[in-house]
Amino acid sequence: MTYQISSLSTAPCSDETCSETEVLQVVGGARLSGQVPISGAKNSALALLAASLLTGESCEISNVPNLVDIERMSAILVALGAQVVRQGDRLIIRAEHIGYASAPYELVSKLRASFFVIGSLMGRCGRARVPLPGGCAIGARPVDLHVRGLQALGAEVHIEHGVVEAYCRSGDRLEGARIYLDYPSVGATETIMMAATLARGQTIIENAAQEPEIVDLANFCIAMGAKIAGAGTKTIVIDGVPELHQARYAVIPDRIEAGTFMVAGAITRSTITLAPVVPAHLGAVIAKLQEIGVRVVLEGHDQLTVVGGQNYRCADIETLPFPGFPTDMQAQFMALLTLCEGNSVIKETVFENRLQHVAELNRMGANIKLKGNVAVVSGVPALSGAPVRATDLRASAALVLAGLAAQGITTIKGLHHLDRGYENIDHKLRVLGAKLYRLSLNNG
Ligand code: EPZ
Repeated sequence: MTYQISSLSTAPCSDETCSETEVLQVVGGARLSGQVPISGAKNSALALLAASLLTGESCEISNVPNLVDIERMSAILVALGAQVVRQGDRLIIRAEHIGYASAPYELVSKLRASFFVIGSLMGRCGRARVPLPGGCAIGARPVDLHVRGLQALGAEVHIEHGVVEAYCRSGDRLEGARIYLDYPSVGATETIMMAATLARGQTIIENAAQEPEIVDLANFCIAMGAKIAGAGTKTIVIDGVPELHQARYAVIPDRIEAGTFMVAGAITRSTITLAPVVPAHLGAVIAKLQEIGVRVVLEGHDQLTVVGGQNYRCADIETLPFPGFPTDMQAQFMALLTLCEGNSVIKETVFENRLQHVAELNRMGANIKLKGNVAVVSGVPALSGAPVRATDLRASAALVLAGLAAQGITTIKGLHHLDRGYENIDHKLRVLGAKLYRLSLNNG
């Protein structure tokens, strides 16, 4: 049975040009109610797609959200010689013949996660050519930890003309090694773990990232026959095997989408239920909402209800690697904290430029002062709707949340950011009772 890339259904707004002709209009003040379905985790699915290159057999990954970023990663796998078919929420990938092709720059430059394929290519083929992903709105996002990890595994790495060229120094296989990460980088942990699954001997990753997406990737690789222990802790041990085989695997629920909807319930002072969720993935988010004065009720093992209140207290936030407060929830909480009594101090320690939403929230009547990577949010009685522009994925979500609570209408530009990371967010919010509409701006 030959695989062909299906016509991956396109999510709205896949690039900047499209998003200039579309705006999201949010009418503030609506109460929300009901239950919202949480999609599969974008940041896990992207890593699992990269890992599917580790075997020549067919892999079936389910609960894959339909997002622009997933389409881009699928296109990169196809460019490398894999076949990818989407059937509903499942992606079937077969990387039987992956050549020494280079991942295309125009795709890699738009999707940082695509750089992770260097780990699976080095493990599977012993060589790889991957363009440097470059920076994005939230920071320079270097890949030095990825490169140093591969070098420790015996890769010769050259970077010139914006392309990372890597190959095994000795023979055709990497050699296991003990690797200490200066920073618990999610992507570097994933790259090294994937490469090590097929290396000769044992690899130990110390100061590894502990995010749930790391555990999901390890479990997928284990389903393919990899020998991995300690994923989710600071030390991961991988015993290399000669080859990996086919696997079927379901992606975990998206903890950041869940956190975003939890803030939607809080900021509109509504009661909404979310499922499926993994409460253990949301520890810092739940604790911070409760500190602010939002009730969170756990129902069974994979469902929770958020009960918004009338008076919220200010709270301080410092973003940290998991299990600390997630940087991907910082913008969303800032939107909520603009309406909490008192002064909240938000310190962004993970990315050097992830506070661009401050200016946009201030246009909506927030009172936020910025000093380096610290924002001091002084609560105001109300926000007012205004035309605003999204600068990055999570900032766009924060502006939607602020618009839901604001008095009047908020018009949001830059929707290509939103559609990269949230599956049908407008529809899901409308079903809950929000009043928001995607409008095309005619040029007439
Ligand atoms: C992953 O990015 C996520 N993306 C990000 O989610 C998330 O914010 C981030 O982890 C932190 O949790 C995906 O999984 C696709 P890092 P990643 O390597 O792997 C520096 C979203 O909104 N660093 O943990 O790129 C880096 O510059 C996105 O869904 C190096 O210096 O994050 C940053 O300051 C945004 N050298 C810090 O480490 C390196 O070689 C954390 O980056 C690698 C990273």
